Amino acid sequence: MADRKPFIAGNWKMYKTGPQAAELASRLKSLVGDITDVDVMVAPPFTALGVVGEILQGSAIHLGGQDLFWEAEGAYTGQISAPMLKAAGCSHVIIGHSERRQYFGETNETVNRKIRAALLGGLIPVLCIGESEAERESGQTFSVVQKQLEEGLEGFSSDEIQKMTVAYEPVWAIGTGKTATTDQAQEVHESIRGRMETAYGNSVAKAVRILYGGSVKPENIGDLMAMADIDGALVGGASLDGDSFAGIVRYK
Ligand code: 13P
Repeated sequence: MADRKPFIAGNWKMYKTGPQAAELASRLKSLVGDITDVDVMVAPPFTALGVVGEILQGSAIHLGGQDLFWEAEGAYTGQISAPMLKAAGCSHVIIGHSERRQYFGETNETVNRKIRAALLGGLIPVLCIGESEAERESGQTFSVVQKQLEEGLEGFSSDEIQKMTVAYEPVWAIGTGKTATTDQAQEVHESIRGRMETAYGNSVAKAVRILYGGSVKPENIGDLMAMADIDGALVGGASLDGDSFAGIVRYK
């Protein structure tokens, strides 16, 4: 994983009410709140951002949103904007998660607009890409991932790209207990970095962190982190329990 700083992020998805989120945040603060050689981020549901942000103050754990809308404000019932996330204490925002693509009509084009909004609002986008099981089986993994990357990132400068994080999450490995093998993950990560190098140059490709996501657990994080192009993890299920998330953060 070269000299990029490891980055472990927890995506709490649609789990945890405010009080439950507060309990988890307090636990995480005591377990991993002082860790600085790994960047740690948690993305609670919107309704828990306030309470989690307050609890995490004074710790090294970063706060992220799970999505955002591309306008800064307006008559968009149900939506949350970059300035709102920023004011709630977020430094990061997950964009283009496969569940957003699958259930909420997210496309590479909407992803592109959301990344623009995030950058304008001073948030670090965590762009999620990944192929479905059918796409992998029909040999389209690399072309699907490349298209998501190309269209999602269309129009951004090298400077902007350098600020982002990419998360490779094969859809078939999310919440299924099926982790991609370390070699399967590494070869896609390597191709993503190669694509970055062609499009934005060597120094950008070397700087951008690429996280792996899909059934990451304390038991498999060590092997994943040993791979050259895997710089961290975007964790779903195992981020909902303080001890298991801390076990992932403390993989070394
Ligand atoms: P799981 O870790 O539950 O497989 O979820 C991965 C994920 O989708 C993180 O964004």
